[in-house]
Parts: sequence; structure tokens; C-alpha cells
Amino acid sequence: MIIAIDGPLASGKGTLARALAAHYGLPHLDTGALYRATALQLINKNIEPSNESEAIKAANALDLSLFENPELRSAKTGAGASVVAAFPEVRKALYDFQVNFANQEGGAVLDGRDIGTVICPNADFKFFVVADANERAERRHRELLEKGEEIALETLITQIKERDERDSNRNDAPLTMAKDAHLLDTSGLSIERVIEKACAIIDANR
Ligand code: C5P
Repeated sequence: MIIAIDGPLASGKGTLARALAAHYGLPHLDTGALYRATALQLINKNIEPSNESEAIKAANALDLSLFENPELRSAKTGAGASVVAAFPEVRKALYDFQVNFANQEGGAVLDGRDIGTVICPNADFKFFVVADANERAERRHRELLEKGEEIALETLITQIKERDERDSNRNDAPLTMAKDAHLLDTSGLSIERVIEKACAIIDANR
């Protein structure tokens, strides 16, 4: 069973993906980490993420050890990830890894921005997770504070808007809901309730 989960930053898609993977005993890939690792490789060398040729080189020689690096989750790396993610050659370099992961025996859960549309168009279940922008900013603010990163809520709201804009309007694989995806609005819902809703959809159609 392949489960594809897409949605914007801090919509709750990552938490839902991890929960569904645990519930159904499937491996999980947070595909944003691939774009983040690409960006972090550049940041660590003092290269701007907007440097296209260097971004392509980094994506083609992805350093998977960066997945464990605490900087992977920083706001700076996230912003850089959305810049490198707009380069079609970067997306191409990361494509096979994701498709192979999805097609492993038994299936998998993948979350990102283009899973239901590009990486797993034939997924058994697709969810598009959304939430109110201010609630997303507050969630992300809490997450970053827990990791020791202090950032003003206002700055985060601006960054989230910029990121949504860039992810939704790029030409290659923009953030869009697949026609056959289930829309899950997590605004005001506990994570338990969101998981329950997704499991109900899966269990009714397996
Ligand atoms: O989800 P996360 O915040 O880790 O993603 C970082 C960035 O990576 C996103 O803003 C997006 O630009 C990019 N991304 C993408 N396609 C995916 C996953 C992430 O373009 N499947």
C-alpha cells in the first residue's frame, strides 16, 4: 500500500505521515528532507541556495548523513530548500530515490509537495493536508522553540507566506492537490482526530 501525503509547511502532514506509517507498519520518507539536505550542503559551504549549478551538483551527490544534522530542521535550511526545489534539474536528481522508496515491496508512506501528483500518481491513498495560515505559523513557532531556535512569530508568518507562494507558483511540480486526493483540513483539530479521519478513509477502502 502506497500512501501519498502532500500539503504546505506545518499543515500537519509530517505528523500524519509518521502516524500512518507506524499504524500500518510501513516505512516512511519525509521527502522535504531531501531538498533540505541539498540546501544544507550549500549553506555549509557558504554557497547561496539560489546558485543553480551548485544546487544541481549537491542534489546529484546527496550526503545522506545530513539527515541526522540538527541544522536540517532550521528555518534557514527550510527556506533554502524551497529555493533549490524550484530548479527542475534538482527535482530530477531526487526523483529516482523517491520513486524507488515508494515502490519497495509492501509499500510506503511519503510526504511532501508533489507526492500525489508527480512521485506516486498511482498511490493507493492520497491526502492533501491544509490548515489555517496563522495556526500553521504558531505550530511551527512552537516546534522551532522546542529545538532552541528563537524566531519572532511575525517573521515566521512572512516566511510561511513566501514559502507557500514559491512552492505553489513554481513551474515544475508546484504544490497542488491531486484530483483524487482526500482533503484534510487540520485547523482546530487535534492530531489524534486527524489520524482517525485518515485511518477511517483508508480502512473503508482497502
Ligand atoms: O516539508 P519541508 O518544509 O521539509 O520542505 C522543505 C521544502 O522542500 C518545501 O518548502 C518545498 O519547496 C520543498 N519540497 C518539494 N517537494 C517535496 C518536498 C519538499 O518541493 N516533495
